Amino acid sequence: MIEIQDITVKFGGVVALDQVTLKIADDVVGLIGPNGAGKTTLTNAFSGFVNVANGSITVNGTNLIDLAPHLRTRWGLARSFQKVQIVPDLSVEDHLKAVLDGKGIPASQRKGAVSKALEYVGISDIRFRKGSTLNPYQRRMTEIAKCLIGAPRIVLLDEPGGGLSESEMQHLREVITGIHPEFGAQVLLVDHDVDLIRDVCASTAVLDFGKLIAFGQTDEVLADEVVKTAYLGR
Ligand SMILES: Nc1ncnc2c1ncn2[C@@H]1O[C@H](COP(=O)(O)OP(=O)(O)OP(=O)(O)O)[C@@H](O)[C@H]1O
Ligand SMILES: [Mg+2]
Repeated sequence: MIEIQDITVKFGGVVALDQVTLKIADDVVGLIGPNGAGKTTLTNAFSGFVNVANGSITVNGTNLIDLAPHLRTRWGLARSFQKVQIVPDLSVEDHLKAVLDGKGIPASQRKGAVSKALEYVGISDIRFRKGSTLNPYQRRMTEIAKCLIGAPRIVLLDEPGGGLSESEMQHLREVITGIHPEFGAQVLLVDHDVDLIRDVCASTAVLDFGKLIAFGQTDEVLADEVVKTAYLGR
């Protein structure tokens, strides 16, 4: 259970998150909202990449906001980025190895952790390929595999479906829904693709101008008039 309480983030005069309060119990939870609603800012509040003016994010008695960002990673918080972070000269495998230290994986478990993550997302065969040679789908999968190294407790995926084909989206669905059974982590999925959200998220939260405007069972949330207006009104 992830308990988000009164999270507020301000950028000068812009209130990017306004006292967001939310209890996340499901294995895969969606986070949607129009451009600029505060979705990425919420993932940044989890990982410590923005200053949180007020509030807490508590998981099993640990308030993540009290931990330094690197300790959140070690604790088991993993995230992918809206803009994929791939280094042209590093191999796929090197991208995964680069996160081992930060996650505090013991030497004896490193090889296994890298292989398991590569195999799980289905990119073992390209493990020695350089970042510069990867297509958008392979970049996404490399980034998700990085999140699955070690024993993640929370995986935040920020628009993983951007720029993927229909068949690649189908594989992405399977990857996302398998994360909890396979690795034990809760997944928070940010995406604009409502079909993806409907298919994989048991519950969904909606942000608009930094405020939580809806939260509940995904099909009910997507049918909500206030939610529809927030999307169509822009
Ligand atoms: N580092 C920053 N400095 C100043 N303003 C920021 C910063 N990051 C975000 N904002 C502002 O905070 C608000 C929320 O932005 P955020 O990136 O969280 O939205 P989003 O829901 O992820 O949008 P999108 O769907 O376009 O990715 C916007 O008004 C944005 O301009
Ligand atoms: Mg965003």
